[in-house]
Amino acid sequence: MKVALVTGGSEGIGRAIATRFAKENYHVVIAARDAAKLTEAASQIKTEWATPVVPMPTDVRDPKQVQDLVEQTIADFGQLDVLVNNAGLYSTGPTEEFTLEDWHQVIDTNLWGYIHTIQAALPHFIAQQKGAIVNLCSIAGKLPMPYLAPYTTSKFAISGLSQALSAELSPKGIQVCAVYPNIIKTAFPEKAVLQGKNPEDKKARYQQLKQTVSMPFIEKPEDVANGVWQALQNNESEPILGSAKLMGGLHALLPRLTQRMLRMVFQNKDSLTSH
Ligand SMILES: NC(=O)c1ccc[n+]([C@@H]2O[C@H](COP(=O)([O-])OP(=O)(O)OC[C@H]3O[C@@H](n4cnc5c(N)ncnc54)[C@H](OP(=O)(O)O)[C@@H]3O)[C@@H](O)[C@H]2O)c1
Repeated sequence: MKVALVTGGSEGIGRAIATRFAKENYHVVIAARDAAKLTEAASQIKTEWATPVVPMPTDVRDPKQVQDLVEQTIADFGQLDVLVNNAGLYSTGPTEEFTLEDWHQVIDTNLWGYIHTIQAALPHFIAQQKGAIVNLCSIAGKLPMPYLAPYTTSKFAISGLSQALSAELSPKGIQVCAVYPNIIKTAFPEKAVLQGKNPEDKKARYQQLKQTVSMPFIEKPEDVANGVWQALQNNESEPILGSAKLMGGLHALLPRLTQRMLRMVFQNKDSLTSH
């Protein structure tokens, strides 16, 4: 039986990916910080798909906890086949309003969290001469997003990391895949790092996110899980999923127009001045 480890597997996209692997008969380990939520997710997936799903509470920002997570997974199951780096958070606001703590929160989770798991799992993959690393990126890792500076920085870094690893590791039998979704219907606004020019701007950003994810045409975590599964089956290294293709295509054709459009979408109550 193959083994998948999914960070951020307690909810949203990570939970859908963990469910997809369970459906495909994988043994699954899920990691996140909130132990109660993680245990609930594990028992629900386990009951539904009758496969072992183990919750391992972990903060991916802590390299020691991540090392223990990977070692415990291999000790419990004897192997690790797929590492899915997914634990992450979003940020929005005028860049001058983000504190250094905000930047650290985003980069430490979205970038260092991924580096920690790769650092821990890679020697194992190299030794067994096979394995797969899936990195949840975002169209914000291909397309520079105004007002999302910490988030877009972390996702561009993940894109570069994934491409470098793919080039280096594919001859060693290790598949590396960065996945690029557009906005997905999850509860991510609740944990997002939000800043604003004033309390009204900050509140408007939260409401904008909530409104956007509630729209019926917004893609679902299961769509991303299917995209991840298909990418692994087809050995794709950079799948751009669903409506993200449209955004990427528009940016490639008309970068200035796309930038202006995104600025209008994300500026909220920030007043734009140009001289
Ligand atoms: N939703 C979107 O629109 C969208 C679009 C493109 C890409 N993505 C990417 O997809 C991934 C998942 O997003 P999502 O929308 O599913 O987010 P979500 O619903 O907010 O879930 C985030 C998951 O990550 C975990 N997590 C957060 N910080 C963590 C930490 N320090 N250590 C361990 N686990 C942590 C959370 O659990 P705890 O809080 O309990 O730790 C939770 O399980 C992220 O990398 C995100 O950037 C999302």
